[in-house]
Amino acid sequence: MMKETKEATPDLKSAKSPKTTADFAKYFQPPSLKDAKKRGKEEIQVHYDFVIPEDMQGIGKGKRYHVRTYGCQMNEHDSETISGILQQMGYTSTDEVEDADVILFNTCAIRENAEDKVFGELGHMKRLKNNNPNLILGVCGCMSQEEKVVNKILKSYTQVDLIFGTHNIHRLPELLRDAMFSKEMVIEVWSKEGDIVENMPKLREGNTKGWVNIMYGCDKFCTYCIVPYTRGKERSRRPEDVIAEVRDLARQGFKEIMLLGQNVNAYGKDFEDIQYGFGDLLDEIRKIDIPRIRFTTSHPRDFDDHLIEVLAHGGNLVEQIHLPVQSGSTEVLKRMARKYTREHYLELVRKIKAAIPNASLSSDIIVGFPGETDEQFEETISMVEEVRYDFAYTFIYSPREGTPAAVMEDNVPMEVKKQRLYRLNEVLGRISLEQNKKLQDQVLEVLVEGESKNNPDVLAGRTRTNKLVHFTGDKSLIGQYVHVKINDAKTWTLHGEIVTKVEV
Ligand code: SAH
Ligand code: SF4
Ligand code: F3S
Repeated sequence: MMKETKEATPDLKSAKSPKTTADFAKYFQPPSLKDAKKRGKEEIQVHYDFVIPEDMQGIGKGKRYHVRTYGCQMNEHDSETISGILQQMGYTSTDEVEDADVILFNTCAIRENAEDKVFGELGHMKRLKNNNPNLILGVCGCMSQEEKVVNKILKSYTQVDLIFGTHNIHRLPELLRDAMFSKEMVIEVWSKEGDIVENMPKLREGNTKGWVNIMYGCDKFCTYCIVPYTRGKERSRRPEDVIAEVRDLARQGFKEIMLLGQNVNAYGKDFEDIQYGFGDLLDEIRKIDIPRIRFTTSHPRDFDDHLIEVLAHGGNLVEQIHLPVQSGSTEVLKRMARKYTREHYLELVRKIKAAIPNASLSSDIIVGFPGETDEQFEETISMVEEVRYDFAYTFIYSPREGTPAAVMEDNVPMEVKKQRLYRLNEVLGRISLEQNKKLQDQVLEVLVEGESKNNPDVLAGRTRTNKLVHFTGDKSLIGQYVHVKINDAKTWTLHGEIVTKVEV
């Protein structure tokens, strides 16, 4: 898959001085948030011809790699692809950066503190580079899609050898070769991409829970969010490719599938030849022999009645829905360009709860959006009280350069934002405890994930509604379904004892 080379921006040009235009084209394809914003009409190409070039096969024999992942599940899954490619090149993985010949940081750009963390750790890598001049240090993921970040790395993090974007993962073998043989920093970040690359190898961790991408990109352009710029336009994988992958995981014995997309409810909207949406896809996937199917993330705007109807079948479609609300105030939602009102969201929740008994809802909520008043924040609190979320990720708004909200006047003092976050988390905690208390003495089906983080003698697993359960049991149960009777319900965890082992 060859791409036309784009002109680089002048500031990047002067930062490194390639010798010829050819060199320049090879090593400099910097990102452009402006280009990333464009949404073209061109058809989505699906490529099935991914191969590792012959001269790169086996190049990693005897060498090790270390991939460090930040951000969302989409990024985690991209890291599985990156690892899969590296393994096909002969590399083996290591947990120790000291032992690695290739270190890749798969980064997240969603909030400023996510980026700060990456820069901090990149700084620590300089020492390794001094010890091992042959070490290849690379940066990929969402941060590499920002010209601001690439400029900063070029200026102050010269220990970096390679930067590649979220649309360039399939190019890793060639880019790694370039990085090995070039003295220049290798940069290849496509900003405007509408393609899908199938057949890339994936190295999944374990064989219990598997991620499956159903679509890439986002066209929603919520005013605070960088994702539509870092991940490109919305494009869906063909249903037959998704279904084949889920079937394959079922054959391998996976116990739970998480379908991934930034806005899974927009699945299929880009198909030109077929009328086929997320509801249709789920209706087929639910017939596959996999005990649990989840998906993330649902945008409330595109959650249609057909989807609710399909979810109401239950079975392997779990009754847990992540439905980010962001704010309870219609005014704030408007400024966020979420394209729904408080009332529309509440009506959707009512429909979901009516159709799906015991539906468990979770959310993402932002506090301190520019111009958010005390009253508007109170509307978020009352929303949380009304919906009674089991769980929510909560964030203080973080301005992202290049997004519309970044130029809105932000008149909410940081102290107030912090108080709002604290208060919101308190309310969420209280509701979660109340919900969990209702599970006292109930017997729940739990997929055993591993040892508890804090106590290796205790096992940890998840219910269908994704609640964390701790209990004692034999380690051979890891990866199995068990039934656990809850005898202690805490705010964020349930504790209990195994009743019987069940076959699902
Ligand atoms: N596609 C998903 C969300 C992806 S980002 C969706 O629309 O639901 C995950 C969450 O990060 C968002 O839901 C939002 O709550 C939060 N987020 C995104 N941009 C942010 C920003 N600039 N500041 C604070 N939180 C942000
Ligand atoms: Fe970001 Fe909105 Fe797209 Fe979610 S739907 S990724 S919040 S722009
Ligand atoms: Fe972060 Fe990119 Fe995911 S910005 S949240 S890693 S899509």
